[in-house]
Amino acid sequence: MSIHGKARKVTTNTLQEMKHEGEKITMLTAYDYSLAKLVDRGGVDVILVGDSASNVMAGRDTTVPMSLDHMIYHAQCVERAVDRALIVVDMPFGTYQGNSRNALDSAIRIMKEANGHAVKLEGGSEIVESIERILTAGIPVMGHLGLTPQSIYKFGTYSVRAKEEKEAVKLIADAKVLEDAGCFAIVLEKIPAHLAKQVSEALSIPTIGIGAGPDCDGQVLVLHDLLGITTDFSPRFLRRYLDLENQISDAVKSYCEDVRSGDFPNSDESY
Ligand code: KIV
Repeated sequence: MSIHGKARKVTTNTLQEMKHEGEKITMLTAYDYSLAKLVDRGGVDVILVGDSASNVMAGRDTTVPMSLDHMIYHAQCVERAVDRALIVVDMPFGTYQGNSRNALDSAIRIMKEANGHAVKLEGGSEIVESIERILTAGIPVMGHLGLTPQSIYKFGTYSVRAKEEKEAVKLIADAKVLEDAGCFAIVLEKIPAHLAKQVSEALSIPTIGIGAGPDCDGQVLVLHDLLGITTDFSPRFLRRYLDLENQISDAVKSYCEDVRSGDFPNSDESY
């Protein structure tokens, strides 16, 4: 708490201090105002406006079609709700690869139009020029290594990455490249726990894991998975804290029954 009794806002420096103190960092996705408000109230440190909105909100198979305009729309909705958490916004596929000027313009749009606090980009040495250019504008950058869903057509599957030594060695080198470039944190997605531990120990910036074992400096999950809103996605790393899929469809069923039977609305619910 600050001296004014308000919750202190989380910054990139806060995350650095948390790693230093050995305090775990919590991160969750949000894409809309109502859930972002609850997530922020729940005390999460970082809210990721993830391009997983492409799957979760838009029902697409991959994150590849996500547009910058849509990411900005989701980030605007989230930003209006959040008092405390650091808001990180995913840069969608095609807005930063291969053209650092384009990357900077895209990141500036996210900061100006959506009031984001930082951006996240997928990839290692191949996108470092874009990362460095974004950083020249004072925009904090979070990296993302391991399973990078925007490259699904290169990988061919969503299975665990960097199990083989060659890929693990590249991942360790990429993590160092991102740290040296100035990233403030790195997401490690779906890699062996021992590799995530090695990377987390080697870096001075925090790592945030998803399917990367317990030794990362923090953890992230997709909110809708944690809430059990859908059950068709069930990776081993996911812990469900609620079963909203059944609770919501039961509530909808009850409402339909009540309307059809004439029970709703009753006299107390009428003017
Ligand atoms: O888009 C997203 O939700 C992500 C997380 C899975 C880290 O990038």
